[in-house]
Amino acid sequence: MAENKPKTATLSFGNKVLELPMMSPVSGPDVIDIRKLYAEGDVFTYDPGFTSTASCSSDITFIDGDKGELLYRGYPIDQLAEKSHYLEVCYLLLYGELPTAVQLDAFETRITRHTMVHEQMHYFFRGFRRDSHPMATMVGVVGAMSAFYHDSTDVNDPWQREVAAIRMIAKVPTIAAMAYKYSIGQPFVYPKNSLDYASNFIHMCFSVPAEDYEVNPILSRAMDRIFTLHADHEQNASTSTVRLAGSSGANPFACIAAGIACLWGPAHGGANQACLEMLREIGTVDRIPEFIKRAKDKDDPFRLMGFGHRVYKNFDPRAKVMKESADEVLGLLGIEDNETLKVAKELERIALEDEYFVSKKLYPNVDFYSGIILDAMGFPTSMFTPVFALSRTVGWIAQWKEMIGDPTQKIGRPRQLYIGASERNYIDVENR
Ligand code: CMC
Repeated sequence: MAENKPKTATLSFGNKVLELPMMSPVSGPDVIDIRKLYAEGDVFTYDPGFTSTASCSSDITFIDGDKGELLYRGYPIDQLAEKSHYLEVCYLLLYGELPTAVQLDAFETRITRHTMVHEQMHYFFRGFRRDSHPMATMVGVVGAMSAFYHDSTDVNDPWQREVAAIRMIAKVPTIAAMAYKYSIGQPFVYPKNSLDYASNFIHMCFSVPAEDYEVNPILSRAMDRIFTLHADHEQNASTSTVRLAGSSGANPFACIAAGIACLWGPAHGGANQACLEMLREIGTVDRIPEFIKRAKDKDDPFRLMGFGHRVYKNFDPRAKVMKESADEVLGLLGIEDNETLKVAKELERIALEDEYFVSKKLYPNVDFYSGIILDAMGFPTSMFTPVFALSRTVGWIAQWKEMIGDPTQKIGRPRQLYIGASERNYIDVENR
């Protein structure tokens, strides 16, 4: 029987012809393995923004941007959002399979038992100005966890990696809620372990010691969905940041802090805050054309926040679920008529019909709808990106663990196309 010949790609340049091995994924395009390109061809590849580069192999998450498909460990996101819940999804992302009832119970208990942060951390918060952005506080405090939990910073010890993972999934919501409470001058609220993960976060954000607080189950379900929809997204900017930071052997808390810093930018996780602020700036439906015009103007840096995606060129499957959730939450809270919502609905309608957005395949992304839900729940815009960060923590950790456990892992060290001055001699200051 004839054996299948491994696929190769032929690259010729100058007087060289190189035969490059190719690799086939389970789904998605084949990749050309260029690891020996520099050694054998004395050339680099040039791909700023990594638009055509697979930076690693992974078996965690798959996106088909043309189909608008997102799978966590093979399971479609819409099925998980409807039938599963966040902690089960965390288990799936971390360990590769859906848990049995016993495994899930043990995992939930473990996470729940780690929700409190070291008491000394309360004082650490006090070093921040009250008006600090909660993301700034989170970058600092999550990074500082390496100073509080010394027994889970050895990346070479699988058990310590596991403990660090559990600690972060359990404690990052507590830290995010503390950052919020600190910014509004209210006392920190300790986690309540009788509550589920999402309800506990809502409770830590909105309850005060002076009053009883009941978490609305509808809001808790919506919150859990937001967490699930944001849990992982393969090699996006913040995840790649976590992998790159981790590739040097940096401790897990420092790596996740690096991911939070990257997520903050408005082109990434910061878009949810930027989007709601943009909707408020537009203010009324009659001003939409003015903003659409600006978004199309090449000389104006303005972009419609919450629209477009590097990978999704059909629709963002997360946005589809998030839109349904937004309709549900707003309906149940009876806030269908507010002006921001009217602007959002009309903007969405116009952009989906407008030739510029249609031809460039710019669809509303997950951040377009999540801000609307979080706003309705009572979160200030500055808390939108921290909610994204706490949801994505599990994805970052799963990807970090996968990388550390990969025997072929090396420190990430891209090369460059140098376009600066060529070698020249130093000139003394008096002669310049
Ligand atoms: N408004 C107006 N024009 C846009 C937009 C937008 N939101 N997004 C892209 N374009 C245009 C862009 O000007 C360019 O036009 P041209 O080809 O004529 O120069 C074309 O579409 C392609 O844009 P790009 O910047 O090359 O695409 P990218 O893949 O580098 O950027 C993006 C993807 C998400 C950064 C971008 O669409 C964007 O800035 N969107 C707004 C911010 C946003 O909502 N981000 C959240 C992404 S989803 C959550 C997450 O995963 O973090």
